[in-house]
Amino acid sequence: MSEDLLVNPFRETFSSRQSPEPCVIIIFGATGDLTHRKLIPAIYNLSVDGDLPSPVKVIGFARRDKSDEEFRDDLEKLNRKVSRQGHDDKLWPTFCQSISYHRGEFQDLEDYKSLARRLDEIADENQALSNRLFYVASAPEFFDEILVGLKESGLNEPRDDHWSRVVVEKPFGTDLPSAIHLNKMVAQTFAEKDTYRIDHYLGKETAQNLMVLRFANTIFEPLWNHQHVDSVQITCSEHLGMEGGRGGYYDKAGALRDMVQNHLLQLLSLVAMEPPTDLSADGVRDEKVKVIRSLRPLKDAKAVAENVIRAQYTAGSIDGNEVLGYREEDRVDPNSQTETYVALRVHIDTWRWSGVPFYIRMGKRLPKKATEISIHFKKPPCVLFNRKGGSDNQNVLVIRIQPDEGHSLRISSKVPGSALRLEHVKMDFRYSTSFGKASPEAYERLLLDAMAGDATLFARRDEVEEAWRFIDAIENAWHQSDNPPPMAEYPAGHWGPDEADEMMRADERLWRRL
Ligand code: BG6
Repeated sequence: MSEDLLVNPFRETFSSRQSPEPCVIIIFGATGDLTHRKLIPAIYNLSVDGDLPSPVKVIGFARRDKSDEEFRDDLEKLNRKVSRQGHDDKLWPTFCQSISYHRGEFQDLEDYKSLARRLDEIADENQALSNRLFYVASAPEFFDEILVGLKESGLNEPRDDHWSRVVVEKPFGTDLPSAIHLNKMVAQTFAEKDTYRIDHYLGKETAQNLMVLRFANTIFEPLWNHQHVDSVQITCSEHLGMEGGRGGYYDKAGALRDMVQNHLLQLLSLVAMEPPTDLSADGVRDEKVKVIRSLRPLKDAKAVAENVIRAQYTAGSIDGNEVLGYREEDRVDPNSQTETYVALRVHIDTWRWSGVPFYIRMGKRLPKKATEISIHFKKPPCVLFNRKGGSDNQNVLVIRIQPDEGHSLRISSKVPGSALRLEHVKMDFRYSTSFGKASPEAYERLLLDAMAGDATLFARRDEVEEAWRFIDAIENAWHQSDNPPPMAEYPAGHWGPDEADEMMRADERLWRRL
């Protein structure tokens, strides 16, 4: 049985946010990959859909010498490849007129001053363009210099009754001290209400839908606790390895810092949080941060060894193609001790989740790309249909974050026939069939929210710091203890190391097969 939920005539719009407002978006690190692959295609697609406020201008700030024309040509090349709705040769020439380039050194105050003059000219011509959205998309080592430049040139100050906001890309620090430092730098330059720390997972349609699933329905929330839930799994499986020279960055970060500290703990907090009092940014973030604060700390190397498995991929095959092992990848130390896979067993010490393990796993070079959350409900009592206490007859609610966004609920059903035989079937909801259109890219939603002044889908200062506090304990056990837990291995194209399966077996559970 597969049953698509029909979209019924019930449609309501809830929004705590204002409309996005006209502004100039100034991108620092404009010649980088993020600008080309994500930001400009997001702005382009918003413009194609008519969702962009009018007018919006984009200024790319970077060190390389480039004319406006050259910059636009570079952006066009990538937009052709990656734009969600394709590239329209008729629309692009008009669209790209709103994009220009400002050459500048991040540490040179004069370059910020000339940017300020340019922004003033734009605002003098059109008052609506007095709003300024500074997007810090450079490599993280330049974040401090950029914030100092913005402050010393006065660009952080709003012009008249308009606004000046900053969006900061990840990584937001590499540990707790560096995150506190960066938070201080940001706070000296912009008010918290004008600070938008990007976590693009929060902009994904399915992540946003988590609150709707939980709090706009009545059937899930009564079961959403330790009395009915046996365990929760959050999996992010990636196909990619270190393509495009990523090894240099990744070897300093690793799976735990790169994805768990931010994206996966954010998903965890949406799954586990209490209902917020309202949908305001702080209403939601107050509840999310409580979850992260309630994570049971892994106090020493022993606790880390028992609850966290780290591993590296070795040479293997992906889609039938031979691929290198992690340590052979470009820009990776051949003796690297950086994990490309991590699996954790965590507990949230709250009344609701007492005794419920949350299993999180993330890996590069796994057999497929998929992110999902699964809620495993307790088994039925061992009477009637479950006399032998079969291990696999739980109801499981799967929330597919990507791809094939949707939800499915696994239930037991009688197989037709004279014998009484049970099998699992799925009730399935797919965005693509129910709504008939592709979800916007996360960056589209997040950029609009920043233009609207809605920080709900951005991480707040305390969330980031609490997450680092939890992660640092693990990193310290790995890198600073005398007896660090071992680094396991898995061949590229396999579902992670045996040790991660053993951790589940010890709990009499299995990882869900994606
Ligand atoms: C980024 C990480 O934040 O998220 C990458 O740095 C990762 O390593 C990426 O591949 C995954 O994002 P998505 O949206 O493709 O799941």
